[in-house]
Amino acid sequence: MFARSAARILAAPSTRFFSASAVNQTKVAVLGAGGGIGQPLSLLLKNDPLVTSLSLYDIRGAPGVAADVSHVDTGSEVKGYAADQLDQALEGVKVVVIPAGVPRKMTRDDLFNTNASIVRDLAAAVGRVSPDAHILVISNPVNSTVPIVAGTLEKAGVFNPRHLFGVTTLDVVRAARFLGEVAGVSPSEARVTVVGGHSGPTIVPLLSQNQHGKSVTGEVYNKLVHRIQYGGDEVVKAKDGAGSATLSMAYAGAKFANALLRGLNGEKGVVTPTFVKSPLFADQGIDFFASNVELGPDGVEKIHPLGELSAEEQKLLEACLPELKKNIEKGKAFVA
Ligand SMILES: NC(=O)c1ccc[n+]([C@@H]2O[C@H](COP(=O)([O-])OP(=O)(O)OC[C@H]3O[C@@H](n4cnc5c(N)ncnc54)[C@H](O)[C@@H]3O)[C@@H](O)[C@H]2O)c1
Repeated sequence: MFARSAARILAAPSTRFFSASAVNQTKVAVLGAGGGIGQPLSLLLKNDPLVTSLSLYDIRGAPGVAADVSHVDTGSEVKGYAADQLDQALEGVKVVVIPAGVPRKMTRDDLFNTNASIVRDLAAAVGRVSPDAHILVISNPVNSTVPIVAGTLEKAGVFNPRHLFGVTTLDVVRAARFLGEVAGVSPSEARVTVVGGHSGPTIVPLLSQNQHGKSVTGEVYNKLVHRIQYGGDEVVKAKDGAGSATLSMAYAGAKFANALLRGLNGEKGVVTPTFVKSPLFADQGIDFFASNVELGPDGVEKIHPLGELSAEEQKLLEACLPELKKNIEKGKAFVA
């Protein structure tokens, strides 16, 4: 069941990256559109036929990005909004993607305080202007910023758990790429469900559920898992302190946005991992968790269970849960 439905999105060849199954009016806002992620993400969204209108906001530079992107010859309208025009940017939006914030230098938790305030304030604006919007959180630390958005919307009395997503797609993209390299196959054959959260030990790739992944063992397995969990460090190091992943993140963000839009437009069987309010480990006090989620006309349609885990994956999950719990509690405490 999982394999068939997941394959529809996870194994989609690149020509189907942006598939248009219906032509609904869909206005998408990018908050933080002037940044390293925001700019290429805006470009990729301009190229998505399911986006009919694009609203670009940043405290600096969004009108320039919008003017530039608006010349691309696809059908969507693009408008840029200056720092004092947040509410206007959010009017009538169905989907809000948030890559606003500062990128990490070495650990994601370092930037907690700055990004926590940015995300809280942006979430409050979404709750005020477009409370029904679906919110896609990219700003790190995702394990904490998603509970911050939820808490902010709860306070405003407009939280809808079906409409809030932490974007963990970069972990999924990296897992396919890195497993593909190890197994000598195309990433399209190396799709991996990644569960848990979105930092270091909270990232749990379920390699055993892929036919190529299940034959990776020993030191090769340990190295592969480590690379998936800490792949972001490779980019931070290579950029020599100047920032973290932007281009691959923009790709991953646009890929997840397209999956959500397909679900919203009524396409069936759109399944991908994402960090959502989840019952899976709620009895252990962990009420947000990334697992395969079916996306439908109202956002989260169905949260899939993890399926069968290998002994190694069980250990990874045990290491994930306490750390994830701390991260979630930190986010909740910030908005308490
Ligand atoms: N989820 C993931 O997998 C993932 C991957 C990489 C990076 N990230 C995170 O994404 C965020 C952005 O990274 P980046 O490299 O694009 O950083 P960046 O500094 O290049 O861009 C951030 C942008 O946010 C804008 N901004 C700041 N405060 C704002 C506000 N209140 N409202 C609107 N815009 C505001 C800045 O002006 C800037 O243009 C960081 O938190 C980073 O850690 C997440």
